[in-house]
Order: sequence, then structure tokens, then C-alpha cells
Amino acid sequence: MRTQVAIIGSGPSGLLLGQLLTDAGIDNIILERSSKAHVLERIRAGVLEEGACDLLDRAGAGERMHQEGLPHDGFDLTFDGKRHRIDLFGLTGGKRVMVYGQTEVTKDLMDRRDATGGKTFFEAADVRPHDFGSGKPYVTFSHGGAEHRLDCDFIAGCDGYHGASRKAVPADAMKLFERVYPFGWLGLIAEVPPVNHELIYANHPRGFALCSMRSHTRSRYYVQVSLDEKVEDWSDDRFWDEIRRRLPASTAEAMTIGPSIEKSIAPLRSFVAEPMRFGSMFLVGDAAHIVPPTGAKGLNLAASDVHYLFEGLREFYADGSSAGVDAYSERALARVWKAERFSWWMTSLMHLFPEIGGYGGPFGQRMQEAELEYLVGSRAASTALAENYVGLPY
Ligand code: APR
Ligand code: PHB
Repeated sequence: MRTQVAIIGSGPSGLLLGQLLTDAGIDNIILERSSKAHVLERIRAGVLEEGACDLLDRAGAGERMHQEGLPHDGFDLTFDGKRHRIDLFGLTGGKRVMVYGQTEVTKDLMDRRDATGGKTFFEAADVRPHDFGSGKPYVTFSHGGAEHRLDCDFIAGCDGYHGASRKAVPADAMKLFERVYPFGWLGLIAEVPPVNHELIYANHPRGFALCSMRSHTRSRYYVQVSLDEKVEDWSDDRFWDEIRRRLPASTAEAMTIGPSIEKSIAPLRSFVAEPMRFGSMFLVGDAAHIVPPTGAKGLNLAASDVHYLFEGLREFYADGSSAGVDAYSERALARVWKAERFSWWMTSLMHLFPEIGGYGGPFGQRMQEAELEYLVGSRAASTALAENYVGLPY
């Protein structure tokens, strides 16, 4: 088998890249470890920057997002019993974010791939990139009991944090940066109307909480939990009691509760692998970097990586210039590190840190409250928050 770009992984990165390439007449094949149903079942983030929305439009997969997604012009911060609105739209000169689940983004991209005849091997096992140090890379995998070899010009490693692409790179060719946070997020989805028409990020001495949504009738809520907590120990009642304790009283009273549809705990991590290009293989999205979810940047960074890589590949095939692919890693990493900084900062500001020092302990709580007061009281500080939240330019 031969293709121009072999894409490993059918998450948002692989699907978006594949669609942009297909629409530009560049042949690509996606190799995905899981089944299509499994990929579509995953519940993840839900906030899209304008840059990500534009890319979905460009890939012809934005129609349902515009119909069903919820444009948000601001969000609330709560701390010390008070609630303050961050006016994203006003502070950024007219920018907003779109609340639309990653699950839906994935479905829309898969539907579009099917409609345009894109080839995907689901349940591809033992996917391995080879010879990417040379100009003749290939990928081997097994599928339906047979072994396959896919020759290509380039390999796009879009296979997430646990994928095979980054693992295939020799350790001494890569620099890894990591921070593991001493807590996780317990998330719940319920078929109840959201407590507020915009998101609420809550700082509280019992820990962080987030009120988000998937639609006007479906809420997505999170509470910070310690890493030794087990989801089985969290009945719905316990979850609802805990999140309401972390919100100002009037907000807690306004909350509609109901049975959960899904509940799970995810650890928080910051991670970057440098560089993001190794010869003819590129790392894209979660394969190269992870952010804690506090700033809602994970999916958006995947989108900006795809933008830089797609532009480079388009230039390569259309003009025979390798300038864009040569610049991919540097361009992508410059934006990645800014989003890493923002996500780390917002995580540090909003969570209860168990250890003393930095933001930890009672002193740390007061430092957070002082910074939050400054943030909501200073237009300059609010603007910096808003500008990062809506997404820095590509
Ligand atoms: N071989 C083939 N496919 C693989 C392999 C492998 N060895 N390992 C992982 N995959 C697949 C996974 O099953 C998944 O479908 O690669 C895909 C990676 O998708 P994501 O983890 O969603 O990563 P990405 O597409 O970069 O999307 C980034 O997703 O994880 C969230 O918060 C993150 O929002 C961000 C976005
Ligand atoms: C979500 O809706 O899942 C969500 C929203 C905002 C975040 C993180 C997650 O910062």
C-alpha cells in the first residue's frame, strides 16, 4: 500500500488533518487502534477557540457546530463567596468561544471523512512507524489477521499521549518536560439544565469546581479530588453535595441536580515533547503535549498543530517547498508553550494545593484570593486572562 501522508490515530488531530489534506487533494490513510464506536464514545473537552472553529469550517465539518454549539461571550470566576464575570467579548474586542463537545467534533469529522471517501483502518494493531529518519518512511500494522506495510512520504503521529509515534523516537533525540499535579478532576454529566448560561470556574478552600455544559439541557460538572479517590466512592448525591459546597450559596441553590449519565476521574498533567518533528515524522496534538484541562486548551492546541502542519504539507505538495514542514516544530511549539503556561497558571490559581509552599496551605489560599481579586479588579489583568482564554493567534 502507498499513500502520501500516513496518519496514526483517529482522534480530533488525525481526523482534522486528514480532512484538510483530502480536501486539498493530498492522499492520506488513517490507522486507528480502536474501533470507531469506541473512539466516538469518549467524552472529553468542550470549549473551542475561534481558530479551531475556523479549521472545522474549512474541513467542511462545521455545520452542526454552528447549529447546535453554544457561543459564549464570557465566563464566571467565583471565590470567597463572590461571583465575577469575565467579559471575553468586551475584553478581546469581539472574540468568543464555542461550547461544543469534542465527542460531537469527532463525529462530525468522521461523517465528513466517510462522505468524502477518506480511508481509515479501525482496529489496526501493532501500528509502527519505520525509517522516518530517511525520506522513505513506512508504517507497519496488522488488520483483520493480515500484516500490512504502508509506504508514504510523511507520517503524522496523531495517536495521543499513549501512542506509538512518540515511543518510536530514540530517547536521546527528544527532550521531555513534565509536571504532574497532586490531584485529579472528577467529572459528571447529567441531563439537567446548566446552573448558569455561561461556565463557572470556582476557587474554594475545599478545592476547585467547574460548571460547564454540553447543551441547554445537559450539564457537565467537575470537582477537584485527590488522586487516591475512587469513582465508586462517589455516589451522585455525594458529588452534588460537594460541588454545591464549593459554589456561592445563591449559585448552589439554583443548581438543578439529577442522575449522572457518566462519571469518571482524570489526573492532571502538563507535558511537552521537543521537538515535534523527526525527519519525515511529525507529532501532533496529545502525542506531543498535554495540558491540564483548566484552560480548556487541549483540543485547541491539537487544532493549531494541525493548522501549521497542514500549511507546511500543502506548500510542499503544491509548490515543492519544504519551508513550512521545516518550520512546523518551531511554530507549533511557540504556541504550545504559551498555552502550557496559561493552563499551568490557571490550574495553580484555581486549585487547592495540598503541600505548603507556592500556592499551597492557608498562605497559598490567600495568595490565590489576592490574585483573583486583582484579576477581576484590573482591566489589564482581566484582559490578559481573556486574551489567552479565547486563544492566542495562530
Ligand atoms: N496505534 C493507532 N492508533 C492509536 C495508537 C496506536 N498505537 N495509540 C493511540 N491511538 C489512537 C487513539 O485510540 C485515539 O483515537 O490515537 C487517537 C488519539 O486521539 P486523542 O487522544 O484524542 O488525541 P488528539 O487527536 O491529539 O486530540 C487531542 O483530545 O485527548 C484530547 O484533551 C485532548 O482535547 C485534546 C484532544
Ligand atoms: C468541559 O466542558 O468539559 C470543560 C470546559 C472547560 C474546561 C474544561 C472542560 O476548562
